[in-house]
Amino acid sequence: MSVSIKSPDEIDKMRIAGRLAAEVLEMITPHIQAGISTAEIDRICHDYMVDVQNVVPACLGYRGFPKSVCTSVNHVICHGIPADNKVLKSGDIINVDVTVIKDGYHGDTSKMFCVGKTPSHAERLVRIAQECLYKGIELVKPGCQLGDIGHIVQQHAEGNFYSVVREYCGHGIGLEFHEDPQVVHYGRPGTGMALQEGMTFTIEPMVNAGKYQTRLKKDGWTVETRDGRLSAQWEHTLAVTATGVEVLTARSEEHF
Ligand code: MF3
Ligand code: CO
Ligand code: CO
Repeated sequence: MSVSIKSPDEIDKMRIAGRLAAEVLEMITPHIQAGISTAEIDRICHDYMVDVQNVVPACLGYRGFPKSVCTSVNHVICHGIPADNKVLKSGDIINVDVTVIKDGYHGDTSKMFCVGKTPSHAERLVRIAQECLYKGIELVKPGCQLGDIGHIVQQHAEGNFYSVVREYCGHGIGLEFHEDPQVVHYGRPGTGMALQEGMTFTIEPMVNAGKYQTRLKKDGWTVETRDGRLSAQWEHTLAVTATGVEVLTARSEEHF
């Protein structure tokens, strides 16, 4: 596959999909409390997407994924499967990852939530992971190279004595969920593909408190840290503009 450049009309559709994905995260926020199960989170998101937004939950059935959102708790890095027996408790950290399809186009975004009273080391990991995403976003403009983005994310994570997951990465996005290019969250400045106006892709760093190695659970989806330590991830869908970047999945709490 090669990198597709979106027309202004396509960017309009991506903007709508992106806003809808962001609105799912805003809608679910007050529900993320100790005592809720990740399956309930999934059900609430599913019903909102299907009944209120009239969008397709992109995760549901994607390569056999059984649920409508991913819920990744504590040492789960990504692709956690919502389950009735996974009940949130005070001190947990959770990523909810939402992807919608509207009018054929995808919007993909995730954020972390701290449940109840979370230890300060966990809150720090969550904050640094968000800063990694924001530092990557700040660089995006025509001519910026993918290695520049990977480098700044890696530098900020490792500078804070964390590690960056290697096996999973950001991606081009549009009519397909996962398009070229791969957007890895490590690298060297001045390397990799140069960005052009009209490209749309995600940045979604997974930052581990310990080592970067992963383990895939027997369910075929859940990705955990090998060392059992915490992991945090934040994701936005972006469009490269003539002069910089538009964050297509920005929430109202964010100002870019
Ligand atoms: N939303 C994830 C991403 O950021 C992909 C989830 S695929 C699923 O790319 F099948 F697990 F839902
Ligand atoms: Co993604
Ligand atoms: Co995602």
